Amino acid sequence: MRIGVLTSGGDCPGLNAVIRSVVHRAVVDHGDEVIGFRDGWKGLLECDYLKLDLDAVAGILARGGTILGSSRVQPSHLRDGVERARGHVAELGLDAIIPIGGEGTLKAARLMSDAGLPIVGVPKTIDNDIAVTDVTFGFDTAVGVATDALDRLKTTAESHQRVLVVEVMGRHTGWIALHSGMAAGAHAIVVPERPFDIEELARRVGERFEAGKRFAIVVAAEGAKPRAGTMAFDEGGKDIYGHERFAGIARQLSIELEQRLGKEARPVILGHVQRGGTPTAYDRVLATRFGWHAVEAVHRGEFGRMTALRGTDIVMVPLADAVETLKTVPDERYEEAETVL
Ligand code: F6P
Repeated sequence: MRIGVLTSGGDCPGLNAVIRSVVHRAVVDHGDEVIGFRDGWKGLLECDYLKLDLDAVAGILARGGTILGSSRVQPSHLRDGVERARGHVAELGLDAIIPIGGEGTLKAARLMSDAGLPIVGVPKTIDNDIAVTDVTFGFDTAVGVATDALDRLKTTAESHQRVLVVEVMGRHTGWIALHSGMAAGAHAIVVPERPFDIEELARRVGERFEAGKRFAIVVAAEGAKPRAGTMAFDEGGKDIYGHERFAGIARQLSIELEQRLGKEARPVILGHVQRGGTPTAYDRVLATRFGWHAVEAVHRGEFGRMTALRGTDIVMVPLADAVETLKTVPDERYEEAETVL
C-alpha cells in the first residue's frame, strides 16, 4: 500500500512519535510505502511531499514539533481544494491518508472523507478537547510544563508578596488550567466553562492574605471569561482562520485584582512553551499506539474513522463523532479541584 501522512494545525509534543510509528508499522510489518506531506493540508493541496523511510524517522521519537511541518489553512480554501486533493491522491497512487491534528484538522479530515477520500485520522492537541477520546497526546506534556512553571512562580511570588495570574493555553476548554492548577496547588483556577465572578475571586485571594499567607497564584485558562456584567472585558475577536483571538485574561485579571486587593499583581503568559520540547513518556506511548492502530485501520479499509483512547484500549471512532462537540470540563471535575486548592 502507499500511505500519505500529514500534521496540521498547532503543533504538539508527540507528533513525531506518531509519524515514526506509522512508518515503522507500515514499512517494516506491511511492506508499505509512506510519504509525508509538508506543512499539513497545504502539502496535499500543493502536492509537496517527501518520502518517509526508516532513515527519515530515525531519532525522532523524543523530538518535539513535527518533522513534516504544520500550518493552518482557512476552511474555505480547503473546501475549494477537495478536487485538487483528490487529483493528487490519484496521481500519487495513495491508498490512504493519515492526517494527524486537532479539532480543525479533524473537521477537514471529515470533509475530505465525505468527499470520498480514504482517510484515517489521528487526534492530537495539548488542549485535550476532543470529545471521543479519553485523552490526546500532548496534553500530559503541556500540563507538565505548566505545572513546572507554576512551581517556579510560587517562589518568586512569595518573595515579593505578589499575586501572579498565570495564563495557560486550552482555547475553549480549561483542561490544562485544571490539571496544572491542581498539580501545583494553585489558589484559584478560572476556566471558560465556568464564567467567574471577579468579586468572588478577589474575596478568595484576599482571604488568603488576611490569613497571613504572603502570595497567591491564580491559574487562568486563556479562554476564561467573567460572568456577564461583572467586569469590563476585552473579548478579542477572530483571526483569519475563524479562531477566537484571546485578549489576555491574565493581564486583565491582574489589573482587576491589584485594584481590589491593593496587592501587587503580575500577569504571566506561558504561551507556546507549553507546546514545545520533548514529549513525556506517556505522550510518546499514546502517540506510538495511535500510529500503529491508524496503519491497521488503513489495512482493514476502515476509512472515515480516527483512533481514540477508551480506558486502556485504542478504538476506532467515526470522524463525524469526533468533530460534533468539544470535550469541556464538567462541573464535578471543577468542584473536585476547588475543594483541594
Ligand atoms: O490548539 C492548540 C493551541 O495551542 C491552543 O491552546 C492555543 O489557543 C492555540 O493553539 C494557539 O495557536 P497559534 O499557535 O496559532 O498561536
